[in-house]
Amino acid sequence: MMWLPCGCTSKYLFTSLSRRIVKYYHDFSGKSSNVLACMPEAASFEGVWDHSGLYEFSVGHTDSFWGAAARHRLTWISPFRSVQDCDLRRGTIRWFEGGKLNVSVNCLDRHVHTFPDRVALIWERDEPGTEVKVTYRQLLEATCRLGNLLRRHGVNRGDCVTIYMPPCPAAVVSMLACARIGAAHSVVFAGFSAEALADRIRDAQSRIVITVNQGVRGGKVTELKQTVDLAIQSCPSVQKVFVAMRTESPVVMTARDIAMEEEMQTEDVVCEPAAMDSEDVLFLLYTSGSTGKPKGLVHTQAGYLLYASLTHRCVFNYHDEDVFGCVADIGWITGHSYSVYGPLANGGTTVLFESTPIYPDPGRYWEMVQRLKINQFYGAPTAIRLLLKYGDHWVHKYDRSTLKTLGSVGEPINTEAWEWYHRVVGDGRCPVVDTWWQTETGGICIAPRPSAPNAEIVPGMAMRPFFGIRPVLMDSEGKVLTSNNTSGALCIAQPWPGMARTIHNNHQRFIETYCQPYPGYFFTGDGAYRSKEGYYQIIGRLDDVINVSGHRIGTAELEDVLNQSPMVAESAVIGYSHEVKGQAVYAFVVLKKEVDVQEADLVRQLKDMVSKNIAKYACPDFIQCVQRLPKTRSGKIMRRVLRKVVERDLDGLGDLSTLDNPAAVQEVIQGHRDLC
Ligand code: WT7
Repeated sequence: MMWLPCGCTSKYLFTSLSRRIVKYYHDFSGKSSNVLACMPEAASFEGVWDHSGLYEFSVGHTDSFWGAAARHRLTWISPFRSVQDCDLRRGTIRWFEGGKLNVSVNCLDRHVHTFPDRVALIWERDEPGTEVKVTYRQLLEATCRLGNLLRRHGVNRGDCVTIYMPPCPAAVVSMLACARIGAAHSVVFAGFSAEALADRIRDAQSRIVITVNQGVRGGKVTELKQTVDLAIQSCPSVQKVFVAMRTESPVVMTARDIAMEEEMQTEDVVCEPAAMDSEDVLFLLYTSGSTGKPKGLVHTQAGYLLYASLTHRCVFNYHDEDVFGCVADIGWITGHSYSVYGPLANGGTTVLFESTPIYPDPGRYWEMVQRLKINQFYGAPTAIRLLLKYGDHWVHKYDRSTLKTLGSVGEPINTEAWEWYHRVVGDGRCPVVDTWWQTETGGICIAPRPSAPNAEIVPGMAMRPFFGIRPVLMDSEGKVLTSNNTSGALCIAQPWPGMARTIHNNHQRFIETYCQPYPGYFFTGDGAYRSKEGYYQIIGRLDDVINVSGHRIGTAELEDVLNQSPMVAESAVIGYSHEVKGQAVYAFVVLKKEVDVQEADLVRQLKDMVSKNIAKYACPDFIQCVQRLPKTRSGKIMRRVLRKVVERDLDGLGDLSTLDNPAAVQEVIQGHRDLC
């Protein structure tokens, strides 16, 4: 087997250069600031002594800031000519042009030179206590073998390989092997259905799909290879399927299928890295929008890697030899930036979590923290809310003294969950960093750290912009709100290296979604509040995107699926607050006239359709049949009214004067009462 547990790490030798800079800075300033220690190159910035000075410098002298960071943190094959050439109005974003580099070299080779035997990956498999460690040397070798194998099968620079795998070393090897030979990857969350996978493969026009025979999660086995077989029936572009073995269970292999590990054995462990331009595509990642099909956001090489690594280092206060435990799936951007690219660019040790928060019991996370000696734990509020219901004893059972920073991501964290995370999980010792960002932003944009070591953190607030990020709030007329204690549409006023460059095959949609709503600004789609002190709190989406357990899902996408049912005439989907999931899906459906069906059958069939076409997590919790939907005279569904009904805020129904069919609202209210 390929992934044998390996021995321990060797000591990392600091390069004398970086140590000298850090030391110099400390002596010079007379005060210790771990903020600047995480960014030694800042010592060359004139007049910068503390976090706020560094932040001001980063937004005021953007080119000097990012130029120094890129030179210091990335290993270049040839240097860049210009730091940036961006125009938010036109949606053209280019960083570090003229520069050539290879992302896999930055994540692997340069570390293998200094600490070949340091553990790069700890694969926390579903079965507790069976973790597998992979050193930098092993990871580089495997990456090279697969890079060679992909090349042998005709994968070229600029191709896009779809990866449909749960978190595991083979998945990381697949991502890095693509990066090594200059192919882009598109990782599709292994919880997505065959249909959803097929949509993404077709959009990316992948010739190669990489998968595993089976997935194992929470003690349950899923037939991932079968799902791929089903998906590619409608994907004529696919020529080869690489299959890695997660379990012993054999799967049917056809002439099109390749036994990945077996074939890798005979490949060379050296693979020439492609010299990539800074702005070549590194990966596509599909995410839901408020309209249409999921969009493939495009991230490029240098800017993305730099931003992922700097945020990973600074926001979590990551130090050499810390064990970083991000429990997100690699199918989401959090997994890309903070399980894979950020930690590996920093030579870190990163955990790949295959299981669930409650398998085999609700102590899983903390038992893992104890066993793997995790220093930074990064997870989602939905899991915290779930675990706090099970009680403190599941946490107290385990030694969590290695923990230094606790991170939260994906959705707003309510005060109760924040307090519990801080007080019970972190014993009141560890800063909780509520990190706001998106697939589009590539990395964390607003978070409590870095800042002065003891700077205040307000529960439930993402707090402060990261270096180089200038958040602004807009009023309904599109004017910048300058005062504090105010809320508005959250935009970012200047480009940063980690931002997405475009939507694959649809630059116009990119411009319309992010650049046109507030010309000259990047529009995030979120609303935010800025406190009296100037701290940010994220309120939630302003568009028709629902956030279920930290996963984005578009209402239009769901309605599309429901409307495909031969029984459904039309539908309207909304999100409502849910105790554990944050938001859950509520669907209203109007049946076709002649349809006669038992409600239970209807609900089962429609839920089935959603899991088949999208994924289980997107299933509505409630499906309510109505005679008609409340609409405006021009025929637009009044979702605002539906949302209020479901949130039981009948006083807040607001202006109903544009409503075409007032009786519809009464019917919806009555039906909702009967259902819930
Ligand atoms: C949307 C982005 C960021 C990686 C995981 C999700 C919401 C994200 C927070 C937070 C409140 C948050 C926003 C955002 N969101 N982080 N700390 N507080 N809301 O990435 O799937 O692209 O979703 O998640 O609404 O727009 P994503």
